[in-house]
Amino acid sequence: MAFGASLRLVAAASTAAARPAAIRTTTRFYATAAQASRLPNPDPTEDSASARLVAEHAPYMVATYSRPPPVFVKGQGSYLWDVENRKYLDFTAGIAVNSLGHCDAEMSEILAEQAKTLIHASNLYYNPWTGALSKLLVERTLESGGMHDAAAVFICNSGSEANEAGIKFGRKVGKMLDPSGGKIEIVSFGNAFHGRTMGSLTATPNPKYQAPFAPMVPGFKVGTYNDVEGLKDLITEKTCSVIVEPIQGEGGVTPATDEFLIALAKRAREVGAVVHYDEIQCGLGRTGQLWAHGHLPKEAHPDILTTAKALGNGFPIGATIVNQKVAEKIKVGDHGTTFGGNPLACRVACNIVERLAKEELQKAVVAKGQLFRQGFEKLRAKYPGLVSEVRGKGLILGLQLTEDPTKIVKAARERGLLVITAGTNTLRFVPSLLVTEEEIQEGLKVLEEAIEVTRE
Ligand SMILES: Cc1ncc(COP(=O)(O)O)c(C=O)c1O
Repeated sequence: MAFGASLRLVAAASTAAARPAAIRTTTRFYATAAQASRLPNPDPTEDSASARLVAEHAPYMVATYSRPPPVFVKGQGSYLWDVENRKYLDFTAGIAVNSLGHCDAEMSEILAEQAKTLIHASNLYYNPWTGALSKLLVERTLESGGMHDAAAVFICNSGSEANEAGIKFGRKVGKMLDPSGGKIEIVSFGNAFHGRTMGSLTATPNPKYQAPFAPMVPGFKVGTYNDVEGLKDLITEKTCSVIVEPIQGEGGVTPATDEFLIALAKRAREVGAVVHYDEIQCGLGRTGQLWAHGHLPKEAHPDILTTAKALGNGFPIGATIVNQKVAEKIKVGDHGTTFGGNPLACRVACNIVERLAKEELQKAVVAKGQLFRQGFEKLRAKYPGLVSEVRGKGLILGLQLTEDPTKIVKAARERGLLVITAGTNTLRFVPSLLVTEEEIQEGLKVLEEAIEVTRE
């Protein structure tokens, strides 16, 4: 929505009295006038245009998220602007989505052009872009050194859907190998995050997400991440599929060890189970290689590889890449989607994948990751009681703190820097892969100030 239009909406804001009490907007996040006057980028005050807009809209939104007060109206590169025209350096990139930055000019042009040509005609017919993206994903994957036997792709609209397809494909493989139905177990790991649909949620063993929606889908089993010893008993002849993130993102930016993934794939293959890598957050160049598993030996490559987030740089799309062993077991009618693979999303993703697969971009990601790490190590040395560990790879990094980071996140935001959290007390950094050295230094400086003021 245009900035002007959002302000016109504010003028028409409804009164608090008219809103249902249960979903009345909380005001506890808003800055007071006195606080606002002392800060470079204060959160909007209760009488601000942002607050009025939220007061009007929030009651009509199912309350699945708790949001801070700024209302973002514009993005460019690594920056966002709010209704009050405050500028924020964005180290979140829409949760590892806007890898080529906000409102990338090339992407916007392609979107506009394809929007005027063909948006959707359904999966009942061919179009030039669903196939082109499938071919490109396979080719770039084969060239990258990851998934050496990638063969075919199912395209959908989100990460959860990509995993849901992967989970179903794993089940189908198990059913074909053992028609008695004895090979249907799906293994996932503690602290994993695979999504919110019932299958992907069942593979996400977090009571906070699962409990309200129990019972989960039957036939899932949970192991301990990075526990090599436990794999033998965990993965058995009953297992059809093992789903794992090479780097757990939501779980706290925790990388799997190479030893663990190699042993996991070996054990899965011993029992005829498929290996499913979820690279929805860590893939597509974020670690400094196209796929986070790309450096692993072939025997540890996946049979199913899921991607989403950065695939559309903000335009919704997901994909499930499979090898021939899996592809040949999926028949017409086994799975489908109305919107998935539409020409608009696929044409955009073709451009994004081509650019994220470039070696220069990936080399730069490694160098930028080093800059972040140097800054984080300085913070660790300065605040040893607060910063206990630096984790991650490339531009998916976690700063493990010994306390709840909420105050630091707010202090950073009120100084113009957006950061998010993950796991337990982890600050997560997933900026645009095009973030510049100056932006990194600017953000690190703000982060240090935010930590400093929260020590008082
Ligand atoms: C590793 C991983 N898998 C799956 C998902 C779910 O993706 P979506 O939110 O697009 O459904 C996420 C989202 O954060 C993720 O990080």
